Amino acid sequence: MAHLICDPDSQQRSRRTTSEQILRPALVLTAIGVVLALAGCGQDSPSILDPRGPGAARIATLWWWLFALGGAVFVVVVATLAVAIMRARRADHESTGEAIRFVVIGGIAIPAVTLLATFGLTLWTTLGLADADQTDLTIEVIGHQFWWEVRYPDEDVVTANEIHIPVGQPVTIQVTTSDVIHSFWVPQLHGKIDLIPGRANTIQLQADEPGEYRGICAEFCGLAHAHMQFLVVASPADEFPAWLERQRQDAPLPEDDIVFRGEQLFLSSACVYCHTVRGTNDSSELGPDLTHLASRRTLAGGILENNRGNLAAWLLDPQTIKPGNAMPGTDFSGEDLQAILTYLESLE
Ligand code: CUA
Repeated sequence: MAHLICDPDSQQRSRRTTSEQILRPALVLTAIGVVLALAGCGQDSPSILDPRGPGAARIATLWWWLFALGGAVFVVVVATLAVAIMRARRADHESTGEAIRFVVIGGIAIPAVTLLATFGLTLWTTLGLADADQTDLTIEVIGHQFWWEVRYPDEDVVTANEIHIPVGQPVTIQVTTSDVIHSFWVPQLHGKIDLIPGRANTIQLQADEPGEYRGICAEFCGLAHAHMQFLVVASPADEFPAWLERQRQDAPLPEDDIVFRGEQLFLSSACVYCHTVRGTNDSSELGPDLTHLASRRTLAGGILENNRGNLAAWLLDPQTIKPGNAMPGTDFSGEDLQAILTYLESLE
């Protein structure tokens, strides 16, 4: 044993082993981190690094600054570690004065500058996100397990899971919840805001270009939390009033026999205990308003494309598609189901 400790070759080997023990896991962890980060960049996921509105743009700028600062700190730490390992091998140590200077610069000055910079950047972002006093349009969004009620109180419009806004204009979104805490987040337009029972929070959204922006619930709220999605649809300012006007109308009257039969079946089914179709005598507000269901792009809290096949699947077996949601399945016969589907598809 004593022989081994005094053997310079063996000391060299053991130092090399120690440095390899440190460096190898660090490299592996870095590689895993890079792979995981890249895996998160799916084409379909809305990214905060692809901002389409002034709020999200400011948040993205902060993200890049923090990334650059964090990257610089990482590089300095790894370089210092490498120097320390190499010097330990050579066993030439610095004088006490040099060591103290190193601790003061590396341990106090640099962290102080870095922390001050991040504090300043965060403050700049937060102050820049402060809402303007008043916008021309206020939209109320009410969270439900597991869908979004959307109201335009000044316009007499109620819809669900789809928020229409005019392009290039800030709108106020006022959020509340009917049950538990949810969080409203449209990554490409702004940050998150919580929906808290007994409280109304506001956030101002603005989209710089026309398009559809995916929104999600960002606070765990129960079994179907991950299936609580919505769309923000930004239309050119001259098309937006036409959308409002159409949504304000009652449901169209049945134009042929099958639609009429579908309407009668719908109105005599359990559907009316939860859903409203304005213009009929059905007016429960437990579930989404269906008056203009066919005009929406999605079904089931933003998770299904709105087409006849998906609508049929949703009516028959909503619990398989979205476990934990409040809608029970139905057992319409084939013919009745077709009539109801045709009726629902007429609600444009
Ligand atoms: Cu609502 Cu999560």
